[in-house]
Amino acid sequence: MSLKEQPLSGIDVLDRPVTAAEKAGYVRQMFDDIAPRYDLLNSLLSAGIHYSWRTFATRCASLSVGGSVLDVCSGTGEWTALLRQVVGPDGFVAAVDFSLPMLQNGAVRFEKNGVGEVQGDAMRLPFTDNSFDAATVAFGIRNVAEIETAFAEMGRVVKPGGRVVCLEFSQPPAGLFRTAYDLHAKYIMPALGGAISGRRDAYTYLPASVERFASRTKLAEKMRTAGLTQVRWVDLTFGLVCVHVGEKPL
Ligand SMILES: C[S@@+](CC[C@H](N)C(=O)[O-])C[C@H]1O[C@@H](n2cnc3c(N)ncnc32)[C@H](O)[C@@H]1O
Repeated sequence: MSLKEQPLSGIDVLDRPVTAAEKAGYVRQMFDDIAPRYDLLNSLLSAGIHYSWRTFATRCASLSVGGSVLDVCSGTGEWTALLRQVVGPDGFVAAVDFSLPMLQNGAVRFEKNGVGEVQGDAMRLPFTDNSFDAATVAFGIRNVAEIETAFAEMGRVVKPGGRVVCLEFSQPPAGLFRTAYDLHAKYIMPALGGAISGRRDAYTYLPASVERFASRTKLAEKMRTAGLTQVRWVDLTFGLVCVHVGEKPL
């Protein structure tokens, strides 16, 4: 039985254990469908806070003017505009995502920021080894069927000493903020997301997938298993999101 045919333990996007191939198919179709409304919902549901999360995560990539960076699971390229600002006009910014509609809905942004976008799978990045100073992924790794494989691929394409930066939702610790988040996730997200995108299940999948997702320590462990070193993480907004950083050994 190939890896793609084995049920993924603990991953039940369809409310049952699914294979890697089934998960990839479901996730891709979901993003294909919500692509035209993705940017709008992103800003509405996070009340615009995602810009400050991306700004912080960009600093974690430790890029310099003239540097090169690959944004994996780029979607419509929200992060690539910021990455371009840091590397400047002489730098190189590339984006990869397996959903063509997500890339197409970011076409204007990619063009404006001089980003080379390509359709491809995070688990088989279409780039040669040691090509970039850093590789980034925002709100994408949770959706990837084999997370260690994606981190290993990100490590493969960055240069020795280069960084892999992952910005992802996390479970806030129990408390007032967690209660408010749970209410938002249970009622507001599916109602607003469903009404605007036409796919309510995509916005019940979001909080459900966060709930099932690896803890901070487990995600760090996956980075190490993928061959990255100096792995560390920082919580933002009361632990609602977390930035993990790993380095490719010299
Ligand atoms: C929640 S969106 C995040 C988009 C963008 N990074 C952002 O911050 O707005 C997740 C993206 O991951 C992409 N994705 C999920 N699994 C993928 C995979 N295996 N390979 C490439 N892209 C993938 C989806 O198509 C989608 O565009």
